[in-house]
Amino acid sequence: MPGFAFRCLARRYATSSRPTLASAPTLRDFLHTDSSTRGPLDATAELLPPYVDAATIDGAGRSVYIETYGCQMNVSDTEVVQSLLRDAGYVLSSSVDAADVVLLNTCAIRDKAEATIWARLREIRAQHRRARQRGEMSASAPRVVGLLGCMGERLKGRLLENERLVDVVCGPDAYRSLPRLLASARAGQPSLDVALSLEETYADVAPVREGSDGISAFVSIMRGCNNMCSYCIVPFTRGRERSRDAASIAREVAQLAMDGYREVTLLGQNVNSYADPAADTSAFADAEASPTSSGVLREGFSSKVPPPRASYRFAQLMEELALAHPEMRFRFTSPHPKDFPDDLLRVIAKYPNVCESLHIPAQSGSSAVLEAMRRGYTREAYDALIRRVRELLPNAAISSDFISGFCGETEEDHLATLDLLRTTRFDKAFMFAYSLREKTHAHRKLVDDVPEPTKQRRLREVIDTYNEGARTANAAEVGRAHLVLLEGISKRSELEWIGRTDTNKRVVFKRDRVPAALDAQHPGSAVELGPGDYVAVRVSEAISANTLRAVPLARSSIQEFSAARLA
Ligand code: SAH
Ligand code: SF4
Ligand code: F3S
Repeated sequence: MPGFAFRCLARRYATSSRPTLASAPTLRDFLHTDSSTRGPLDATAELLPPYVDAATIDGAGRSVYIETYGCQMNVSDTEVVQSLLRDAGYVLSSSVDAADVVLLNTCAIRDKAEATIWARLREIRAQHRRARQRGEMSASAPRVVGLLGCMGERLKGRLLENERLVDVVCGPDAYRSLPRLLASARAGQPSLDVALSLEETYADVAPVREGSDGISAFVSIMRGCNNMCSYCIVPFTRGRERSRDAASIAREVAQLAMDGYREVTLLGQNVNSYADPAADTSAFADAEASPTSSGVLREGFSSKVPPPRASYRFAQLMEELALAHPEMRFRFTSPHPKDFPDDLLRVIAKYPNVCESLHIPAQSGSSAVLEAMRRGYTREAYDALIRRVRELLPNAAISSDFISGFCGETEEDHLATLDLLRTTRFDKAFMFAYSLREKTHAHRKLVDDVPEPTKQRRLREVIDTYNEGARTANAAEVGRAHLVLLEGISKRSELEWIGRTDTNKRVVFKRDRVPAALDAQHPGSAVELGPGDYVAVRVSEAISANTLRAVPLARSSIQEFSAARLA
């Protein structure tokens, strides 16, 4: 993650108008221990333990360098951390060598992800030692190394005690205490806060999007996961599910629209199980399309924890945002297959600015493996969901995640996954070999019994089968019209633009001048295109499984392109 000096970009949105802890103090407001109840940093001084004063936690212009690993949630969290640290008097540095504080925002999803972080921490420590030996760093200004994110909880002892690779460990729900932890570390006291919260959503923190292209932004709408899939560490690193209040999401998106952003990806570990029990649905802009209160879970899907009773769920949030910002594209990740009710599919179909790109992680094509994984659905239920998606959204792109070699996976189970990949041609897939994670149900109760070479061979076959399907799917794109959001100049050729379709496929096309609008009767004069423009294109060639080449037709808009109904 590149770093830049902070500018005064971040704003703090007013907190929700609904009663909050801030407006109605309770006993929890006076406790220091639960990070979920801490107010914004402005209030941190009041909440500090008596032995730490506000001046001590002030960053006083010290520089911070942050490297981000893992999923988009971590990228989004880094933006929150940047905001909190900026408010605490730090500036962001783009140089790991020059920074006073080095932070790694880490991922624990697979063993490999963790191994990368260990290697990086040792490298940073070694660089640090060498710099000291060369006299490039003053011993009186010790550099602080901190570990954020998903690795903290499990490895805290080892990180702080045995190897002492870091001075600070700060978990995903504890970022408000980071200035305090850094101050303690400066005073020579290794410090840690990995407490998970039932409430923390950082709703009031305006992320600092310094590394952003100004076109696409992530907006985090919920955190945590209740699903407890038997292989997965996320519920342990990120805690229980909680949704951010809808009003603060609407405000953040409105601000992004004002700042010129054209695409927002709503984020959460289980983004489509979003529910705001307190949201006021009477203010719904489109009464006809207002909540249908259809069944929360699809038939054939179950949930370990009952979904919260709320009429304002993910479909309603998506619809409200789509209506409010008709020229802003909306995407979402990462969803769970159980939370795709028909009303969500209908919202996606109805609004041209809600992208027809659905991530529906299958994990396996075998019902026996799905049961062992505790995914809460069978192969048949998954197939039925895909059929329903194809019915309501015939042009949607579908992507997925797969794990090869899970505990007890037989050759027959593996063949069932290959069959799923053949029958549902996925436009994109993320495929992994199973990696045993401590603490999980699989670690405690199942046996990691598929030999490593078999896992790797099955993974290879899964990847090959996916690639065949994706190539076929891409070849079928030739001749089709798409609306592309132009992102910039292609890395392969200075003469071409690169952008993405609604279905999230990469498209390159010549940097020609084009008509200013699609309407052939009034095409207007030809215009130069630029990043952030919507461009109507016609696909001329499938370059690879992921990239298309196209001919630009005209500059356009989401509404114009949708009304034109080009084939
Ligand atoms: N909430 C998302 C997943 C987030 S993790 C969902 O349920 O779809 C992203 C992906 O990492 C998962 O979909 C899964 O395919 C993979 N993954 C998670 N734990 C894993 C493990 N222990 N070994 C291998 N892959 C894993
Ligand atoms: Fe992990 Fe399952 Fe939660 Fe996804 S839904 S984060 S795979 S436990
Ligand atoms: Fe990794 Fe944590 Fe994301 S484990 S995948 S960074 S939620």
